[in-house]
Amino acid sequence: MALVHSPHLVCSDGAVVPLRVDRWVGCAENVDTEILAGVKGPVLDVGCGPGRHVAALAANGIVAMGIDISHEAVALAERRGAPVLERSVFDAVPATGRWATALLLDGSIGIGGNPLRLLERIRELLANDGTVIVEVEGLGIGCRRVDARIRVDEALSNWFPWARVGVDGIEYLAHASGFVLSHLGVKESRWFAFLNAPVPQ
Ligand SMILES: C[S@@+](CC[C@H](N)C(=O)[O-])C[C@H]1O[C@@H](n2cnc3c(N)ncnc32)[C@H](O)[C@@H]1O
Repeated sequence: MALVHSPHLVCSDGAVVPLRVDRWVGCAENVDTEILAGVKGPVLDVGCGPGRHVAALAANGIVAMGIDISHEAVALAERRGAPVLERSVFDAVPATGRWATALLLDGSIGIGGNPLRLLERIRELLANDGTVIVEVEGLGIGCRRVDARIRVDEALSNWFPWARVGVDGIEYLAHASGFVLSHLGVKESRWFAFLNAPVPQ
């Protein structure tokens, strides 16, 4: 009998991380809505996938937009009525310098394989007093730049640059990219860091 695997991210550091596609295509979970409660709009969801966070924000009257490079993910998001753009975060993004909040949730800190460069890019996209909410992994991961590929059943994608960041890596990254780590907390085994751009004196 052939082995059947659900999708996994296979990383060059040996980690094999289940890809929670069921979670991404579903609605925002309780943890997500708690994290999003009280965020200031407009919100830019970077690597929004099928748009569950954007949809939840819009349902609460908060102006939000998602960006993602995946055509399939953007199509799914559009189908649920979430405002999204098929675009890389490293390309031109509307309202650059005016987003109040950016989201890097459920693995999106790995985008591009260089979290420092990604956070510096987010800093450009945010308003001067903006906040980025970053979901990170637990202790012992630090900040790792890896190569990764997606495995579905027996099929493997090409390698692409990715990154893993843990609770023990985010403070250094925050400072190095010009943010201040204002809060780090855990909810239902998921870790979230709030990084603020320091208000200029
Ligand atoms: C781990 S998934 C995050 C899913 C989503 N944040 C959620 O919680 O439902 C990472 C997403 O980042 C997207 N992505 C990868 N590179 C990107 C880039 N350069 N710009 C924008 N999105 C990107 C992928 O297509 C993928 O949908």
